[in-house]
Amino acid sequence: METVTLSQPRRVERLVTGRPTTDGAGVKLTRVLTQDLQQRLDPFLMLDNFASDDPNDWNAGFPDHPHRGFETVTYMITGRMRHRDSAGHEGLLESGGVQWMTAGRGLVHSEMPEQEEGRMEGFQLWLNLPGTHKMCDPWYRDIASAEIPLFTTPEGVAVRVIAGHSHGVAGAVQREQTQPLYLDLHFPLGQSTFSQPLPAGHNAFIYVYRGKLEVLDALGDPMAVPLHCMALLANEGDGVVLRGAATSAEPARALLIAGKPLHEPIAQYGPFVMNTREQLAQAVDDFRSGRLA
Ligand code: FE2
Repeated sequence: METVTLSQPRRVERLVTGRPTTDGAGVKLTRVLTQDLQQRLDPFLMLDNFASDDPNDWNAGFPDHPHRGFETVTYMITGRMRHRDSAGHEGLLESGGVQWMTAGRGLVHSEMPEQEEGRMEGFQLWLNLPGTHKMCDPWYRDIASAEIPLFTTPEGVAVRVIAGHSHGVAGAVQREQTQPLYLDLHFPLGQSTFSQPLPAGHNAFIYVYRGKLEVLDALGDPMAVPLHCMALLANEGDGVVLRGAATSAEPARALLIAGKPLHEPIAQYGPFVMNTREQLAQAVDDFRSGRLA
């Protein structure tokens, strides 16, 4: 593991609270990254957080639906979800595991809970594809919890590296065009810090899903990030320094996500994300004509 020193940590530009919504066949979730933030957080299009002990909130699942033009990254904290797609692929996503799917030119799939009770908690992130790759062959990979690279810093922060690189540790997935960084950070109780370099120009945010965190600026002054809050990081600076909040009643856990913007037009119609309206019309037509299945 490499030691990281930052000279000018990024500050928090803005705090965003997620919006409660329903999706699929009636799954209750919180949309953390909403459509109005797609330009600012390019190449990321959406982040949903589902978390409930009540089966009524999640048991309807996400029956057959299409996607085209981007990637979906589903990270299960607790629970079991089975996915099936029109190309005949099938897999079971279990606690701590990730499904990374490149929709490319399109497919129809379902994502259904494979449990009748208990807790279902996790995230789905939508990562855009460049125009040159939007019509690529669909691809997916199931990454079991044990396959996700993990390291613990001397201060006791456990880091699961889902994508990108952190402290010299390569994540489970790398992407050339968008260079996504996707870390799940588990802080111990107390004021441990964690530093992560971020390339200039890459858009970045954190989302706190347990306890409370702080983002430290160049002077070491903290900006508190409350539970279930997303902090958009300003693009000036060479990385981010996070610290567990002294007042946090439980060990803080957060996602740190960053990526290289594509700087392309974003045209979205539901589960299709293309560059132009004409391409969207084609996607709808292809779906209705059964060309995605
Ligand atoms: Fe989906």
